[in-house]
Amino acid sequence: MKKYFLFLLSLICSTAYSQNAIVLNADQGQEIISKHIYGHFSEHLGRCIYGGFYVGEGNTKIPNTQGVRNDVVEALKKLKVPNLRWPGGCFADTYHWKDGVGPKAKRPTIVNTWWGGVTEDNSFGTHDFLNMCELIGAEPYLSANVGSGTVQEVSEWIQYTNFDGVSPMSNWRKENGREKPWNVTYWGVGNEAWGCGGNMTAEYYANIYRQYATFMNGKLFRIASGANSADYHWTEVLMRDIPHWMLEGVALHHYSVIDWNKKGSATNFSEEQYFQTMKRALMMEELIVKHTTIMDKYDPAKKVALVVDEWGGWYDVEPNTNPGFLYQQNTMRDAILAGATLNIFNNHSDRVRMANLAQTVNVLQAVLLTNEEKLLLTPTYHVMEMYNVHQDATLIPLNLKTNQFAMGNDKLPAVSASASRDKNGVMHISLVNIDLKSTQEITLDVRGAKYNSISGRILTSQKIQDYNSFEAPEKIKPAAFKQVSLNGNVIKATLPAHSVVVLELK
Ligand code: AHR
Repeated sequence: MKKYFLFLLSLICSTAYSQNAIVLNADQGQEIISKHIYGHFSEHLGRCIYGGFYVGEGNTKIPNTQGVRNDVVEALKKLKVPNLRWPGGCFADTYHWKDGVGPKAKRPTIVNTWWGGVTEDNSFGTHDFLNMCELIGAEPYLSANVGSGTVQEVSEWIQYTNFDGVSPMSNWRKENGREKPWNVTYWGVGNEAWGCGGNMTAEYYANIYRQYATFMNGKLFRIASGANSADYHWTEVLMRDIPHWMLEGVALHHYSVIDWNKKGSATNFSEEQYFQTMKRALMMEELIVKHTTIMDKYDPAKKVALVVDEWGGWYDVEPNTNPGFLYQQNTMRDAILAGATLNIFNNHSDRVRMANLAQTVNVLQAVLLTNEEKLLLTPTYHVMEMYNVHQDATLIPLNLKTNQFAMGNDKLPAVSASASRDKNGVMHISLVNIDLKSTQEITLDVRGAKYNSISGRILTSQKIQDYNSFEAPEKIKPAAFKQVSLNGNVIKATLPAHSVVVLELK
């Protein structure tokens, strides 16, 4: 009897009833969730480019196309990667693009001063990156060197990649084997100008931006190097001092790091560390609201996009790996972080029109990890794949009432959600149960449309610390979600602790 009572009690304690509710107005919504919110980032850092994307054409058994791994291309095609940022990051402000074109044997070597002090042989350059983007089906986003480069260098890079007529740079491109321009739209004007990009003040950088942007011609989407997390002054100055006719996007960088001096292990972390990581990740909501408020003051028509071109979890590197290479494993914690962050981006798609998870392969919150010829898909990959149904769909406004996930005196929302309607009228709802231990029961009241069928996919695991390893690469992968019902216009779902669910209504 006592045993039965204890069992009942534990069931009651681990299931959070009745408080979670969502009202969705399925016939409403005007904003398109730009597919570019689902962008990625590839820097010359550790094994992201070399060994990750690129193995070279020569002495390798790894199947490749012009040196780019075929398995990586295939995985990223499935992910529907809309854009890829390159060559950095901090590396971008040390990068001189002319070093990376022409015969590979003649390219100069440089030292990658930011990341491990390794020799960079420039074998992966502009042609390699832009051709690779074509293979993946992603739009390139080039990050131009402002910190240690020149205005001329950037304007010549644009001429090299985009000009169709006769000019010194377009002729050189043709000599190097590419007849037609790639027509690169997205250009970053420096990176982290407040830090590794030159340690500038906002006021100084705003002037520098004006100078560079003047000579960045054509139909371009120019992105100003943006604020570090809650540096609202930075956004204020950029929006105030840069004329908006020469500004298409303002960046924002925010990493979910518990403490820069004590980041903690990527896999061996406590419940408290999980909570703190999620707290830092969910701060994205506040950051977007506050940066947007400033942008609205100067740009009420929302012409200038907020571009979160670096985000993700940042932990200690894996034991016995180069500290400068930022190689970390990826657990179910990262999947929850990704799902909740993407819901925030979706819900703010009126202003957030582009974002880039840092970084694609083998660095920080990677979607892919490689080990020689082996490749694995991380839990974050699976979330990005499950969520790609939102790309270019119409955001459905929703009203969410959620339980709280408490730790000590601190609280976070237990459930995160966003919803969209695609061009065929299919609705997708992405739900994250952030709570570590409690199942969350949720009721969704769908108004304004009638759906006949519901299905879903779930990503979860036994422990939040679980991850996919090269020995067990499919430990965490999406499965059919059955704990859901549709009755008239009411959906009821049971979300297991630390899970990501995407529902589809037809
Ligand atoms: O993504 C790693 C680094 O983080 C980038 O190079 C830099 O922009 C940021 O500080």
